[in-house]
Amino acid sequence: MNRSVADDDLLQRNGLPARWLPLAEELPRADWPHSTLHAMAHELLAVHDAQRANLGSLVQSGHAWSANESDGAAYRSIVLPQLSDFLRFLETHHRLESQRFFPMLAAADPRTRGAFDLLDRDHDAIHALMDAAWRHAQAFDARLSGGVNADTEAAALAAAIERLAAPLARHLRDEEDIVVPHLTLRGFELPKTG
Ligand SMILES: [Fe+2]
Ligand SMILES: [Fe+2]
Repeated sequence: MNRSVADDDLLQRNGLPARWLPLAEELPRADWPHSTLHAMAHELLAVHDAQRANLGSLVQSGHAWSANESDGAAYRSIVLPQLSDFLRFLETHHRLESQRFFPMLAAADPRTRGAFDLLDRDHDAIHALMDAAWRHAQAFDARLSGGVNADTEAAALAAAIERLAAPLARHLRDEEDIVVPHLTLRGFELPKTG
């Protein structure tokens, strides 16, 4: 077995792969509250917290439906617009990171390139789960619109949303452990545009 593959796989790993831990240990998470973090590090943490909260709310809606606290129509009225917003926001965030932010950070210190490649691959793994969740949302919507029982589709949607939770949490934490020290210790300025 190639250990590095499991270490790198977002769906299998339990933490940042060992070879990238030294980057995180340059400014450990425990030191953040009493450190002056880079302004963009604060922004990243706030955006990630919003993603955690929004996905948590989506998962909670599924739990409410499965506990019979909401019917199919009520679940649909909550989950479809929230999921659509969440997926659109996440896709934009990942595109900015993978196409712009990560390449600039990697260029600032080429020794970190592999860590950003890892985070970029995480985005691909998360996107497969996002696509699956949206397909289930559409199937649920179509079934309910047909005026028939859509419990199976609602359960499949709730499960597909919940499958996003652990990988997204893993990715957000690992990304923060790489990016927050990098920004804070090496400094970074977005190039002026326009
Ligand atoms: Fe990311
Ligand atoms: Fe991010």
